[in-house]
Amino acid sequence: DLGGFPHYMAKEIQEQPESVERIIRGRLDDRFGVARLDGLNLTPRELRGFSRVKILGCGSAYYVGQIGATMIEELARIPADAEAASEFRYRNPIIEADTLYIAVSQSGETIDTAFAVEEIKRKGGRVVGLVNVVGSTIARACDGGVYLHAGPEIAVASTKALTNMAVGFALIALALGRVRDLSNADGQRIIDAIRALPGQIKSILDAEPEIAEHAKAAATAKSLFFIGRVRGFPVAREGAQKFKEISYRHAEAYQTSELKHGPLALIDDSLPTVAIVPADELAGRNLAALQQIRARGGSVLAVTHEDVDFGELDVPRIVVPRTEPELDPILLTIPLQLLAYHAALTLGYDIDKPRNLAKSVTVE
Ligand code: BG6
Repeated sequence: DLGGFPHYMAKEIQEQPESVERIIRGRLDDRFGVARLDGLNLTPRELRGFSRVKILGCGSAYYVGQIGATMIEELARIPADAEAASEFRYRNPIIEADTLYIAVSQSGETIDTAFAVEEIKRKGGRVVGLVNVVGSTIARACDGGVYLHAGPEIAVASTKALTNMAVGFALIALALGRVRDLSNADGQRIIDAIRALPGQIKSILDAEPEIAEHAKAAATAKSLFFIGRVRGFPVAREGAQKFKEISYRHAEAYQTSELKHGPLALIDDSLPTVAIVPADELAGRNLAALQQIRARGGSVLAVTHEDVDFGELDVPRIVVPRTEPELDPILLTIPLQLLAYHAALTLGYDIDKPRNLAKSVTVE
């Protein structure tokens, strides 16, 4: 049931304030500044015992896994990284007892992710799931997990499930952090920020008409760069992925810091850049890179915060509300969904069922 929306993707984007409410419901403990994740089936002692986190997923789930890895490193100070689950078992991975493996999947049926889980389990590793579909293959194969409670997602391009994955990682990072060095006060700071997310998402969605205008301009380009650094890089990767999936435009994600080491050569007035510029300690460096792009005739659309001072740099902006810096990627990703959606709408493509893609790939 489309509920009056023209596409499932539009509906699912709009549902995000409520679906985020659902993943956090009953899971935030104010007294101890921690997330309660009983489904993980891990005692505090076990949680404390992990010295590394490895996240596995495919497509958008992989990119959101990178967002999660950064959150875990920042909040729990445990080395964490994400890897494409589709590659994992083919490199005879080293499975370690003190690594927490996290499999991320909306459907819980993606065969590549299921094989990665199987490989970890066969070698005696501990794997938990961050999965939307209850009772799915991956959910059942894992030792425990956090259900996303995003509700059914029909559009091939994942939106609300993805946002809940990112929020799920914030909860996991909180749980891992609070059995380590994250203070009760810092835990509370993150909890308060998580609680504010649904309202903040709503305010981003209210800016849809303005984002649609930017999308019309973006849709005319044959190719685009999406750039960001550290927290912003996986956001850029996910933004490029969405753009490719539904608007069939070439979109390439790059670390803003790496532009000058090569791809800057490509920049001219036919190659626009979507830049992720949060108000964090890297804002100045990000703006310097944008200046270099502008100096070469490249156009820029910035996804940014109100208090970033662009000075002389006159570029169009999509402004999102600030949360705690560690959680910024959650909100920065939302306008990129709308950007891809409206670009595809402008171009007249089949938004919910893009060519060549399936909602979940259950064969290798
Ligand atoms: C791909 C879809 O095949 O699977 C992507 O086209 C999706 O949109 C990816 O992100 C992973 O799916 P899931 O269900 O494992 O999250």
